[in-house]
Amino acid sequence: MKKPIIIANWKANKTTQEAIAWFQHLADIRGQLADDKVVVICPGFHLLSTVKTQIQHFNLVFNVGAQDISSFSAGAHTGEVPAEFAREFATYVLIGHSERREQLHELDELLERKVRLALPSGLQVIYCVRGLEDVIPQGVTLVAYEPVGAIGSGQPDTPENAQDVAEQIKQNYPQVQAVIYGGSVSAENVSLYTSQAAIDGVLVGGASLDAASFSEIIRNS
Ligand code: PGA
Repeated sequence: MKKPIIIANWKANKTTQEAIAWFQHLADIRGQLADDKVVVICPGFHLLSTVKTQIQHFNLVFNVGAQDISSFSAGAHTGEVPAEFAREFATYVLIGHSERREQLHELDELLERKVRLALPSGLQVIYCVRGLEDVIPQGVTLVAYEPVGAIGSGQPDTPENAQDVAEQIKQNYPQVQAVIYGGSVSAENVSLYTSQAAIDGVLVGGASLDAASFSEIIRNS
């Protein structure tokens, strides 16, 4: 059986101190966590180094993910974080999250450029789509289906619909090996998604910010 993929998207949350406290709490209850899931923590850029160090310190079998990368390579691009620098800390990167598509007007062409820089740098892309209408760039093998209305609303998509969409994504894009679901995933509902045949895991925002609720999500997935 494939390992479920459980991804925490901390978004623009947590100071260094808060991140360290999160890991301390998680480490205290780590005995309850089996190592049979692929867990990825995606913090803000300011925490990539801290999260990597905390994972090593507590000997957790977790991976680090960036929430974004630049669409430029290294060079004269003030404020940007190119793929190769994110790769110093992270092995995954979220690209195309609907918050960036909407708040920062990121369009397909820009997202495609990011994918083209992420893959050769060795980052595994978690490509976020809002539904079947969003085009998935070539080379992407891991997709997160996150319907906009389900994000942060407490109103997740139905497991049946999420399963249908995941199945269709895999049919439409044979390159895609895994589809995860995101949008108001909680410790209570996670198993309804991970038990669907075409759904390979979950992307968790709000409920990942609390170490106790995130570890419960890992356990219940
Ligand atoms: P949510 O966010 O779990 O808070 O709904 C999910 C996401 O946006 O990745």
